[in-house]
Amino acid sequence: MINIVLFGKPGAGKGTQAEFLKEKYNLTHLSTGDIFRFNMKNDTELGKLAKSYIDLGDLVPDEVTIKMLEDEVNKNTQSAGFLFDGFPRTIAQADALDTFLKIKNWNITATIALEADDNILVARLLERGKTSGRADDQDEEKIRNRYDEYNEKTAPLIGYYQEQNKFHAVDGIGTIEEITQRLTQVIDNL
Ligand code: AP5
Repeated sequence: MINIVLFGKPGAGKGTQAEFLKEKYNLTHLSTGDIFRFNMKNDTELGKLAKSYIDLGDLVPDEVTIKMLEDEVNKNTQSAGFLFDGFPRTIAQADALDTFLKIKNWNITATIALEADDNILVARLLERGKTSGRADDQDEEKIRNRYDEYNEKTAPLIGYYQEQNKFHAVDGIGTIEEITQRLTQVIDNL
């Protein structure tokens, strides 16, 4: 079983690359952002709660996100492996994930970060915001807030996974195909 954490700042290309990687390695793709948006679209209680954070560019509280992610993993226990996209995003989430996987005799195989300059990523999100309907892509202030959240709460995970010798960085600038190739090279070498 391989379990990959796809890591990176907002707009780094996690969702785009996950579409290729999940097919190639037969992984269950779990994107916490996508699950929240599905719930927001369907106006569930979880969706209403998540919306009050996501629309501002803030992280959804850990206890809500961890429970949701664990429920999704439990729905897919026959999976050949997981591709975690946008989770974990805090040290508390990473600790919870390690503990949860350990109970199942599983673990994280590797965390792969897509790296790119903030200004390039902000431009990508502003462009996507024109057609995506995502409230958190609509203006630069909300987008910048997502980067502040990343720097404060998510960036410490780099050290967390480096200490476990599980952190791999990949250049996130280039064509989608070039970046897929870089990612598959890392995964094939694991
Ligand atoms: P989430 O949906 O995870 O958003 P994000 O991390 O901000 O990531 P994005 O989806 O914006 O970007 P991405 O890296 O997937 O890039 P993409 O492939 O789409 O989370 C949204 C919100 O939900 C969070 O802000 C938070 O509130 C909440 N949330 C989610 N998880 C949480 C958690 N664990 N804890 C707490 N809260 C949580 O690409 C971006 C754009 O760039 C696209 O238009 C794409 O076409 C384009 N693009 C991709 N690759 C390239 C390339 N190589 N060259 C040019 N353009 C490219």
